[in-house]
Amino acid sequence: MMNGSGFGVGFRIVGTVIVLLNLLLTVALVMQVRAVRREIAALPAGLAEKRDVAALAPLGVRQVLSRRCVACHTPRALGTTVSMDPADLPALLERMQSHPGADIPSDELRRIGAALLVLRCARCHGDQEIGLMVLKSRPQRMATIRDMALLPGSGIRIDQIGLIASAFDELIEGADREPASIPAAQPATR
Ligand code: HEC
Ligand code: HEC
Repeated sequence: MMNGSGFGVGFRIVGTVIVLLNLLLTVALVMQVRAVRREIAALPAGLAEKRDVAALAPLGVRQVLSRRCVACHTPRALGTTVSMDPADLPALLERMQSHPGADIPSDELRRIGAALLVLRCARCHGDQEIGLMVLKSRPQRMATIRDMALLPGSGIRIDQIGLIASAFDELIEGADREPASIPAAQPATR
């Protein structure tokens, strides 16, 4: 499982609060995280390899938000978007564009919006589970998102499944378009 990214190690640390996308968001749902780990540990062996491959195909959620938002916000502040109605995100992003000093290109709005939707999954999952989505077909992704929406307390509504599936489409296609290593902005102190 070691892949040089360090996530393989972090994944095993019992009782650790999952630090969402490492630096971007900390939302502690310790009980759910433990349940996820138990379930994932019980998955068939072939999946471990799949997970390693998935870890090599990051969706760039961390990079895009680091580059465009973390100059002004702490990861925790970005975490508040998880409870916002997805319909309100475009207006939020337009407002962010208008703040002096913001560097949020309009042609990246779709991708940033998609990254914010995928943050919802990171309440309960690390990069590796989320990376598994890259290996799934679109119908499989829809099915997984529907399963997640049916989990009590997931915060994902049935009527959001299509939107979140499209967010994955956007990020997966975007990952093909752009090199994985985007320099991150310096984290903000507020
Ligand atoms: C140039 C600085 C700057 C950048 C870059 C920036 N913001 Fe903001 N953000 C602000 C300021 C100032 C406020 C408070 C005023 C407001 O809500 O518009 C704010 C408020 C917010 C809020 C709280 C809004 C609410 O209704 O409670 C969220 C969520 C947010 N930003 C998300 C983001 C996201 C996501 C990005 C990256 C796409 C981002 N911001 C980029 C300056 C910035
Ligand atoms: C409230 C916590 C929670 C949230 C939010 C959540 N999940 Fe899950 N996820 C779980 C649990 C628990 C399991 C294991 C049980 C299961 O498979 O139903 C799981 C399993 C998975 C699996 C492995 C099983 C499979 O179908 O391949 C994937 C992939 C996954 N989730 C992706 C996602 C995605 C993508 C999102 C965001 C749309 C998401 N999860 C949101 C709790 C969550």
